[in-house]
Amino acid sequence: MKTIQGAPGAKILAFGHYQPSKVVTNADLSATMDTNDEWIQSRVGIRERRIATAGESEIDLAVQAGGKALAASGLSAGDIDLVIVATCTLEAQIPNAAARVATRLGIEAPGAFDVNTACSGFCYALALANDAVRAGSAVNVLVIGTEKLSQWIDWTDRSTAVIFADGAGAAVVGPSDTPRIGPVVWGSAGDKADAIMIKDRGSFLRQEGQTVFRWATTALHPVAKEICERAGVDPADLAAFVPHQANLRIIEAIARRLGADKAVIAKDIVLAGNTSAASIPLALSRMVERGEVQSGGLVLLLGFGAGLTYAGQVVEIP
Ligand code: UT7
Repeated sequence: MKTIQGAPGAKILAFGHYQPSKVVTNADLSATMDTNDEWIQSRVGIRERRIATAGESEIDLAVQAGGKALAASGLSAGDIDLVIVATCTLEAQIPNAAARVATRLGIEAPGAFDVNTACSGFCYALALANDAVRAGSAVNVLVIGTEKLSQWIDWTDRSTAVIFADGAGAAVVGPSDTPRIGPVVWGSAGDKADAIMIKDRGSFLRQEGQTVFRWATTALHPVAKEICERAGVDPADLAAFVPHQANLRIIEAIARRLGADKAVIAKDIVLAGNTSAASIPLALSRMVERGEVQSGGLVLLLGFGAGLTYAGQVVEIP
């Protein structure tokens, strides 16, 4: 059997993101359910979020974000040979998102698959892209996290309606002479599968918030440290920390224990809400756009969520 030689390493070439234009504030939600700005800001950290319109699908969001990343990468559609979409909120199970997104972007006949590990999905997808480039099964990969959570939310349930939102973020991954995407650390806790779920096709998303909160604030900072160790990076040298944007209190608790003293901490949740698999690429792309991290800066990504699942890696800013 012949083997194929991949690249010595892989790197992120560019980012892109997209948010629906419709802004929903805490005051808007307080007008329709028994909640208030003070509770939402103090318990979760969200001030406002973006919600897609009825005619705007999770595929539309992915096409926008993916198209921007592709344009920023300097590559053309013909250079992409694999498209991976991380999502857990497709309106229908079949067909997958990746093939449709690729066709809409003019990418012809790429490998195309979806990853569903909910809020950790982008980090899983990025790890697969890194492996594919290094193994020689792809040259350039478009990785997208996209979610339309609003279509799986019960808009009368204040425990979820104030938290979740819509959006998409993307990265183009290509070959590199040296590794610029670190080794992934990934894992799961299936014993807590019931903590976040959509029970069946007639149900909305429900979560046992406190179970997930406890797990996220106790089990994940060791994972964050292990990711840095495996990449050979001292947390003190990180330019930024971009965890899944689940809850500002969780983000700050993990960041405190990490010792990443110089790092910019992503707090995108304040204006974007919790967009599950989209939250990390969305936050990172916006951070780069604002100039908060410079080219060559090392950023720790840490995804976690339903499953329960987690994954993360250190990446270098292009
Ligand atoms: O992205 C996937 C991963 N998910 C997560 O990481 C989520 C982790 N969990 C959390 O972030 C938090 O648990 C939540 C933000 C979901 C909830 O915050 P909490 O501090 O754990 O609140 P709670 O669920 O314990 O509720 C406290 C109180 C309850 O009232 P009582 O029983 O004390 O009278 C709730 O009914 O707050 C009430 N409450 C609300 N009040 C006003 C729940 N939702 C609301 C609301 N507005 N929207």
